Amino acid sequence: MKKFKRHLITSALPYANGPIHIGHLAGVYVPSDIYTRYLRMKGEDVISICGSDEHGVPITLKARNEGVSPQEIVDRYHTINKKAFEDFGIAFDIYSRTSNKIHYETASEFFLKLYEKREFIEKTTEQYYDEEAACFLADRYITGTCPHCGNENAYGDQCEKCGTSLSPNELKNPRSTVSGSKPVLRETLHWYLPLDKYEPWLRKWILEDHREWKSNVYGQCKSWLDQGLQPRAVSRDLDWGVPVPVKGAEGKVLYVWFDAPIGYISATRELTPDWEKYWKDPETRMIHFIGKDNIVFHCIIFPAMLNAEGSFILPDNVPANEFLNLENDKISTSRNWAVWLHEYLSDFPGKQDVLRYSLCASAPETKDNDFTWKEFQARNNNELVAILGNFVNRTLVLTGNYYGGRVPERGTADENDEMVLKEIDHLKANVETGLDNFRFREALKEAMNLARLGNKYLADTEPWKVVKTDPERVKTIMNIALQITANLTILLEPFLPFSMKKLREWINLGDLNWNFAGKTDLLAPGHQISKPELLFEKIEDEAIQKQIDKLLQTKKSNEAPAQCLPAKDPVTFEEFSKMDLRTATILEAEKVPKTTKLLKLKIDTGIDIRTIVSGIAEYFEPANIIGKQISIVANLEPRKIRGIESKGMILMAEDKDGKLVMVSPDEKVNNGSTIK
Ligand code: 2FM
Ligand code: ZN
Repeated sequence: MKKFKRHLITSALPYANGPIHIGHLAGVYVPSDIYTRYLRMKGEDVISICGSDEHGVPITLKARNEGVSPQEIVDRYHTINKKAFEDFGIAFDIYSRTSNKIHYETASEFFLKLYEKREFIEKTTEQYYDEEAACFLADRYITGTCPHCGNENAYGDQCEKCGTSLSPNELKNPRSTVSGSKPVLRETLHWYLPLDKYEPWLRKWILEDHREWKSNVYGQCKSWLDQGLQPRAVSRDLDWGVPVPVKGAEGKVLYVWFDAPIGYISATRELTPDWEKYWKDPETRMIHFIGKDNIVFHCIIFPAMLNAEGSFILPDNVPANEFLNLENDKISTSRNWAVWLHEYLSDFPGKQDVLRYSLCASAPETKDNDFTWKEFQARNNNELVAILGNFVNRTLVLTGNYYGGRVPERGTADENDEMVLKEIDHLKANVETGLDNFRFREALKEAMNLARLGNKYLADTEPWKVVKTDPERVKTIMNIALQITANLTILLEPFLPFSMKKLREWINLGDLNWNFAGKTDLLAPGHQISKPELLFEKIEDEAIQKQIDKLLQTKKSNEAPAQCLPAKDPVTFEEFSKMDLRTATILEAEKVPKTTKLLKLKIDTGIDIRTIVSGIAEYFEPANIIGKQISIVANLEPRKIRGIESKGMILMAEDKDGKLVMVSPDEKVNNGSTIK
């Protein structure tokens, strides 16, 4: 393999229209972080680039739905996601954003360079236009029936059911997402990148020069190339995005997939004045970490853009992953079917490595895979606790007990010792092979095999028994167990950075270079280690059940046919005016004896002090509602309930699940105020 001078690692810029979930992590960010940490430990010159992708129709649609500006949406999610990545230990050198000034400048310059080199085709075509909303309908602003699978809700850029990428004009029965109206065709001018022109070059560059790419990536590229490439528009009629920087392009912006990958360049420029060496020197190895839905953009379109521009390097590899499902269902932001990173971090504080481990161990590297909470628990309890934690704990506790925490001298090694010592180097080589080839699951398994080896070694040699008869022999055993521990802190560092930092502190080792791995004298005799704590804790069923229940709740609300009951028949204003609705305050509340549902309430209505019996005992503790201002129907005919005269009724809001909430004025008013 060619030796490069430096590495530029990019991770797909997530859209700033929602929080990061485990699908993003398993597909892109955990692998890119593992790889970056590995290269750093090897002493390579490496930078890791990421940031928010802040343009595109999903963002403007969300803003429209919430009645806020697109900037408000991207500010919100950029902040949440940047912090979540930091807290999760994803070690980007920069987490930038495409609404930055430097990005607007970089993307505009890039477009202008291609424009001036006459690399674009300028074309006027007919595109769908919403006359009611007075706007062109790009991408997700239009929906209709997919011509391939008949899905009636396909988007203008893609059918999510069959995965085909579409253009709005292919949709049958098109509808505007903005107003719901039927759009008309109108002429508009746009700039196209003639991908067909680059097809022969792309065929050679990918299909001949990059046969080593992962088979899912290579296969998808081949299929695109075999279908034949068409010119692709790089501009849109939208008001959110980087304006097309040429005359006559008012009201037009760069297509999000044109500006987003340029975001990698802008982020590097923001990070260092020396950015050009990362982008323009063929001695730099650029690697794009992405999910499978991004393959065409990173392997075909962006390389064609870079090639057309002429001064930038191309990616050397694009190790795209497949998708992660959750509990046998596709992860979906809109259906809230996800494990959100920021929620995980608050539900499982200090357990970043458990999720990193679990996502890497079941990463969708060659095919889609499923995340289940039960498997997550098993990975923690049966692997991190029972294998890794157990080995480390036994080694450090015995060293403390026998030698006051000082590393003992290694005597003559027997045949088994020699085999174990050799195996450390062998496992290191296996971990490297996995990492070098982007097979992170395999690499992690091999690193964990070192802990397995350690456990077997202790079980075979039984130092706790031998210590009574041959204490010299035990010194050798414990020395070897400690060398295994030190090696673990190196081999597992890219995967479990939080725990390995802790472990290195306990064994009093500074930051170690990767090249130390495989050595069997990392801890010198006499070296002092400290008292260990537990490296991992068991996760109990209760914590897992809570997460499963959360998902069940989501499923239930997704399946609920409607959020509220149908409307009732109309009433006249006169009929409504007969009701005497008033504000009142609860003075006393107590359960009606021998009932489960009834509360007896003493109420100050402003008119009088009266009793109301209400069927709300299952929802409210009497002590919690005393003093609360409420709304009542004051003129309901009195009636006797369980022998108590009830005069009136308390107004409650009841949702579709039967949950009751009191209807209270949103600030205090006099009791007896009328409600109309
Ligand atoms: O699929 C996505 O989430 C895109 N926002 C990825 C963009 S990657 C790069 F091109 F910026
Ligand atoms: Zn379809």
